[in-house]
Amino acid sequence: MKTEINLLDRYPPSSRTGKVGERAILITEEQREISRQFGEQYFDGDRMYGYGGYHYHPRFWQGVVRRIRDYYQLAEDASLLDIGCAKGFMLHDFKELMPDLTIAGLDISEYAIAHAMESVKPFVRAGNARELPYDDNSFDLVTAINTVHNLPLEECKQALREIQRVSRKHSFVQLDAYRTQEEKERLERWVLTCKTYMHVDEWRNLFEQICYTGDYYWFIAE
Ligand SMILES: C[S@@+](CC[C@H](N)C(=O)[O-])C[C@H]1O[C@@H](n2cnc3c(N)ncnc32)[C@H](O)[C@@H]1O
Repeated sequence: MKTEINLLDRYPPSSRTGKVGERAILITEEQREISRQFGEQYFDGDRMYGYGGYHYHPRFWQGVVRRIRDYYQLAEDASLLDIGCAKGFMLHDFKELMPDLTIAGLDISEYAIAHAMESVKPFVRAGNARELPYDDNSFDLVTAINTVHNLPLEECKQALREIQRVSRKHSFVQLDAYRTQEEKERLERWVLTCKTYMHVDEWRNLFEQICYTGDYYWFIAE
């Protein structure tokens, strides 16, 4: 319980690193405002607003989902909620790997939900991480990858409490963070949508403060 663990270490590195340089030149507040709508511009618009085209490719998540399944020793008929599921790529790969898994996805983006993969459409819905529309202890595993930090601090706390509430066993969050001044500056040049980024120790303190007992890892800008 409460382990710092990189469960995305099988995510292809080229897609998550080395990006700062690409977008570093003067991110404006106007740009951030557009990105934070999490609409078409963010997912499938120009690179300056986000992904610059958010498309499925099996090489992105297939290794990660195996890693997560094995780490948590998920039963074939376990249940999984992915918060910030976007178009459901990870959920799709989970379902391919574990057909009996019960899946659910939630994302604030109506656009992403409307453009979710057909295979997961029945299982995803629009909603906010700070108020999860699920009963207590509903899922064996709750994940929120690069999602919770898009809320302001107080709402991040609320979201983590919600994750804790709806998970009956495991949870995993990945959050924007830094360990050094240099990493902080790199992150500040990189972030478009994130509202709460902290030193890793500050995140750890926050976990203590709100009694979050799930697992976690960091997105650190490289
Ligand atoms: C950086 S993307 C990550 C998507 C996916 N988890 C991944 O790792 O590829 C952040 C996602 O969080 C969603 N999001 C942002 N704020 C949210 C909130 N308050 N509640 C739920 N989803 C949110 C965005 O729409 C977006 O799909």
